Amino acid sequence: MEIKKVMVVGAGQMGSGIAQVCAQSGYDVLLNDMNKEALEKGMNRIEKLLSRSVEKERITEEDKEATMNRLTPSSDLNDAKDCDIVIEAVIEDMDVKQSVFQQLDKIAPPHAILASNTSSLPITEICAVTERPEKVIGMHFMNPVPVMKLVEVIRGLQTSDETFKAVEEMSKKLNKTSVEVNDFPGFVANRVLMPMINEAIYTVYEGVASVEDVDTVMKLGMNHPMGPLTLADFIGLDTCLYIMEVLHEGLGDSKYRPCPLLRKYVSAGWLGRKSGRGFYTYE
Ligand code: CAA
Repeated sequence: MEIKKVMVVGAGQMGSGIAQVCAQSGYDVLLNDMNKEALEKGMNRIEKLLSRSVEKERITEEDKEATMNRLTPSSDLNDAKDCDIVIEAVIEDMDVKQSVFQQLDKIAPPHAILASNTSSLPITEICAVTERPEKVIGMHFMNPVPVMKLVEVIRGLQTSDETFKAVEEMSKKLNKTSVEVNDFPGFVANRVLMPMINEAIYTVYEGVASVEDVDTVMKLGMNHPMGPLTLADFIGLDTCLYIMEVLHEGLGDSKYRPCPLLRKYVSAGWLGRKSGRGFYTYE
């Protein structure tokens, strides 16, 4: 099947990033959010990033205009009625996601693929609330979406080969590298990344080294672009804790227990960059 028209549901950082790369790759894109303020913010974020690319002479003013012309804001889920794929990027809450998928299942045409950008929720459970489980799939982009090359493509138990192939093909057109992943807690990215971040927090908690020194070890010793504690602040400490809990509960192994210091920071509202305070302080 050929994908031409895309809807992205959720205009936050991930959703707007996904909409941007889809529009830049030539797809007609609806960026949907029921919150009009969030929608406006998402559209402005895309415009700003494209302007920066024009300033850096990565794209021309005409490229920017063409991309913006392919993007339409939408605050009505019914606009999915003529889309070939819908990519959901709303909050990481199973009830919310299932409700969005139930609605989309009724609105989107029968051939349409319904994809979720979930970072750790089971795709099979999302498939189960629709009448088209073979057309439901995970499409996990990394933050910041316009920069990061990876898409984890997650097959739910009932996802068809045809759906998988269409999404793999689309990922290529988005200039991303896709990997095929089976539906297991944390998939691959967060199964490997989050225990590393959690362990970095333990080294601080146990007084092995300072926050800055732990980050320096991983940046200069392992060539990571960001140290694990800077990255934790970037991702959001609430998200890190949530994913550790998904791993702990889903895999039942004590090696995934979240560090008490991570819990304490989240309880205090120290959520990283977005709240102004995490392992570091932000203005
Ligand atoms: N949105 C769009 N573009 C961005 C951006 C953002 N939020 N932040 C930075 N960029 C762009 C910059 O514009 C710049 O582009 P140009 O080359 O065109 O100028 C480029 O990225 C490099 O940025 P900077 O020079 O400002 O900074 P940097 O070299 O330190 O790179 C970074 C920034 C790309 C974020 C880099 O630090 C990095 O790769 N960090 C690790 C990110 C990472 O691990 N992401 C995955 C998180 S886990 C996840 O997403 C999954 C999950 O489920 C939790």
